[in-house]
Amino acid sequence: MAEPVSFVRTFRAPGRVNLIGEHTDYNLGYVLPIALNLATYVEVHRRGDGRLHLLSEQKPEELSWAVEELAGAQPRKHWSDYVIGVAQQLIRRGYSIAPCLLKIRSDVPEGSGLSSSAALEVASALALLGGRAIDKVELAKLCRAAENEFVGMPCGIMDQYVSVFGERGAAVQIDCRTLEHRVVQLPEGVSVVVVNSKVKHELGNSAYRDRVSECAMAVAAVQHWHPEVQSLRDVTLQHLADIPMPELVMRRARHIVTDTMRVELFVNAAARGNLREMGMLFVDSHRSMQHDYEITCAEVDFLAEAAMEIPGCIGARMTGGGFGGCTVNLVATEYVASFTREIVNRYSERWGIEASVFVVEAGEGAGEVRSVEPEGAGSLAG
Ligand code: GLA
Repeated sequence: MAEPVSFVRTFRAPGRVNLIGEHTDYNLGYVLPIALNLATYVEVHRRGDGRLHLLSEQKPEELSWAVEELAGAQPRKHWSDYVIGVAQQLIRRGYSIAPCLLKIRSDVPEGSGLSSSAALEVASALALLGGRAIDKVELAKLCRAAENEFVGMPCGIMDQYVSVFGERGAAVQIDCRTLEHRVVQLPEGVSVVVVNSKVKHELGNSAYRDRVSECAMAVAAVQHWHPEVQSLRDVTLQHLADIPMPELVMRRARHIVTDTMRVELFVNAAARGNLREMGMLFVDSHRSMQHDYEITCAEVDFLAEAAMEIPGCIGARMTGGGFGGCTVNLVATEYVASFTREIVNRYSERWGIEASVFVVEAGEGAGEVRSVEPEGAGSLAG
């Protein structure tokens, strides 16, 4: 007999902007992201037909799987892989998946380096759990595992972690080795402004994989002399000066070692209210991504450089995986409106593209947004 519809619940998980520490997560270093108030929302409607249905507001096609097929489902190179990957990870951890329809909507712009995929993973995991308890670190880990193993993207844990642990009004410094974090307040009078270049170069995913393996090569070179070294987190600039390795591999490692140092320096500078130092660290981080890690592109290099010529801008750098997406800018709050006008004008004059700009409001981490009274039978159809 069909199970009666019993409830509708909605779960929310935010996207993020990373302030500093890029590609350091899978090298077990530090990162400093902020959870956005832009989020993905997943509404769960219980169904009685033994199937998991997915319906995305942005991509209107209804997809479904028999619940008992989920454990053996294969990736389709489709947005649904994020959800099915998460379902598989839950099943592996002993959670059953109840037949239901997940209605998905998101205000995290896709392909812009603001982690729309992690937001979808985390919101889907909570929706599939339907209120069952889970350890928060475990939740972040299983969502990352879904992306690594099912989607096939060897990402680190930053995006999923901050989507779970985001703090209203603050950044979160994550130690990607211990998986602990601390909350970091930015000084008064400075706003975090995101500028979306609206470009995303295809290179992104394959270059990400290349960087992961170049970092592993650097670790192997250092391990030859220092077998105790586990990851680039343990590597120092002195190691890089002393140990022979291909020049390109050395530059990749140098970005990771210095950007992880920059996270700590930035957090200390923020505690002292030293805006000038915070800004310089942003600029150094961008240059390191541009020349050593080689993950920027002409459009975001332009945005980062142009920003620094605009009054009120304290620091600017690309944020996220790279090859397009967004820059993150520290702007004196009273200059935000003039900065926004000027960066949009300059970018459109040079590239003919209308950049979109928003001021970051740090939102809280993932959770349930509302519970409503039981639905009528009419909503069986979703
Ligand atoms: C992507 C990945 C993250 C992280 C960033 C770069 O967003 O998903 O794990 O590596 O790139 O910092």
